[in-house]
Amino acid sequence: MSTNDLSQSKTKRIVSGMRPTGKLHLGHYKGVLENWLQLQQQHQCYFFAADWHALTTDYANPSIVKDTIWDMLIDWLAVGVDPEKAVVFIQSEIPEHAELHLLLSFMTPLSWLERVPTYKDQIEQLREKELGTYGFLGYPLLQSADILIYRADGVPVGEDQVPHIELTREVARRFNHLYRQGIPPLFPEPESLLMPTSKLPGLDGRKMSKSYGNTIELAEEWKVTEKKVKQMPTDPARVRRDDAGTPEKCAVWDFHKVYSSKEEQAWVQDGCTSASIGCIDCKMCMLKHLEEELQPIRERRIDIASRPDDLRDIVKAGNEKARREAARSMEKVRKSLKMGYRV
Ligand code: TRP
Ligand code: SF4
Repeated sequence: MSTNDLSQSKTKRIVSGMRPTGKLHLGHYKGVLENWLQLQQQHQCYFFAADWHALTTDYANPSIVKDTIWDMLIDWLAVGVDPEKAVVFIQSEIPEHAELHLLLSFMTPLSWLERVPTYKDQIEQLREKELGTYGFLGYPLLQSADILIYRADGVPVGEDQVPHIELTREVARRFNHLYRQGIPPLFPEPESLLMPTSKLPGLDGRKMSKSYGNTIELAEEWKVTEKKVKQMPTDPARVRRDDAGTPEKCAVWDFHKVYSSKEEQAWVQDGCTSASIGCIDCKMCMLKHLEEELQPIRERRIDIASRPDDLRDIVKAGNEKARREAARSMEKVRKSLKMGYRV
């Protein structure tokens, strides 16, 4: 399913979370946050900082969460996530997620979790983190609880997360089948809203990622961005100014494809292949667009960071809204599980 499927229909409920594990960069913005901004225009969105999820892999180093969570929330607001439109909150402030996760765990076959494709891969890849834990196996189910507790219709996800939404649909179906055969069922089966993969690579042409050290952080100073771009590798064929090059062999071109007008793109194609422009000219044109995009974000960032009390109030209000909705779901869940004996 694509975002278009939802944008043509009436207002739906959307849930998405992001782990606070480091500084947000342009890849997060172009790949995820821009999508959120579109969704919030039309749909009822719940966006949360997935701090418990961060602990599934970083349990040995919980300061990562404390050090990054507020910066992440500032980044969200600075790019335009609008707390008037979307509910912005912190996962661990809504203990109902954990309660639902527990209740769902009783009816979820182990085999469903073991066959999530990333499970064995990740244990291998992140060997130093010792992920043979109960919580790591169960984390896709925690994600299911995050989604189902708001009775979401859709979840914007990257390719790698699609199996988690599939699991969520199966869990919803199983719950509805076991306890709630009424119409409508308690949990709608959420759709995956597949986000197109970002066309913007990292500074070295590979995927933009902290682990490759090829990022432009949303919060960094303009001088730093400028320097990084000036140092970007270009087509190695252009050793001297009058050597011709091939834009397709250069990451700067990928940036132009995202940011520059058709005329400018033609100018790059022409100038690069005929050696009539230098790489610095080419980068300066791209930098101008980057600056237009990043500077307003950075100014808003500084403004938001200078008013920490307002930020807290925003998140507090989001927590309260989310909690009310989660509590409503849990009432129904407990009733389905015949827990009316509680005093
Ligand atoms: N698992 C997601 C990730 O690692 C984050 C996440 C947690 C999430 N709960 C979610 C995403 C619910 C969408 C919906 O990126
Ligand atoms: Fe890359 Fe532009 Fe230099 Fe061509 S002119 S190699 S596209 S930076």
